[in-house]
Amino acid sequence: MANESSAPDSGNVVWHHATVTRERREAMNRHRSAILWFTGLSGAGKSTLAHAVEEHLYRIGCRTFVLDGDNVRHGLCGDLGFSAEDRVENIRRVGEVAKLFMEAGVVVLTAFISPFREDRNKVRAMVQPGEFIEIYCQCPIDVCERRDTKGLYKKARMGEITQFTGISSAYEPPGAPELVLNTAEMDLQDCVQKVMQVLLKNGSL
Ligand code: ADX
Repeated sequence: MANESSAPDSGNVVWHHATVTRERREAMNRHRSAILWFTGLSGAGKSTLAHAVEEHLYRIGCRTFVLDGDNVRHGLCGDLGFSAEDRVENIRRVGEVAKLFMEAGVVVLTAFISPFREDRNKVRAMVQPGEFIEIYCQCPIDVCERRDTKGLYKKARMGEITQFTGISSAYEPPGAPELVLNTAEMDLQDCVQKVMQVLLKNGSL
């Protein structure tokens, strides 16, 4: 049953320390864990890019996992909608899961609109400097709208979907992302190479 006092539910829960630590997992994997956080409008190419980077990492022997908004919202976050409050909770949960994947020694790639700067920065603050790599998939809304792969922009314009990011709900671009990729103009494999350069430069690989 939920805690009825004002104390957090975790107040009387003691953290159990593993003997198989993150450091040991990283040593076995022969790479560090990291969070590659892709952010941008719906249709900006976050999922496509995250999966292309994952494919590349997998082929060179890295342990990886993609957390994708469209998938996570069917299960872990299936109770959440698109109000500002629900989006905050969505990203909070994803941040916690990403942190667990970090402990598991994995390079975790997240593909969520994650429209609010503060929420992304909260996840950044949950891990060590250099471990959170924010990748802004910059794509003009008219390009996203022209692609409209899921037909959602059309519905949003017709008022069938409310609180749609970029139309009736805000998107706050990152202030200082590790990488900005113009996904409207750049070739997919060139984008993958740019992400790889960041991972190599910061010592993750
Ligand atoms: S986030 O804002 O909370 O980060 P998330 O990435 O999980 O969003 O989910 C976005 C996906 O949900 C979009 O790619 C789109 O397919 C779908 N979607 C449905 N309704 C909306 C909406 N109102 N605004 C944005 N995306 C929506």
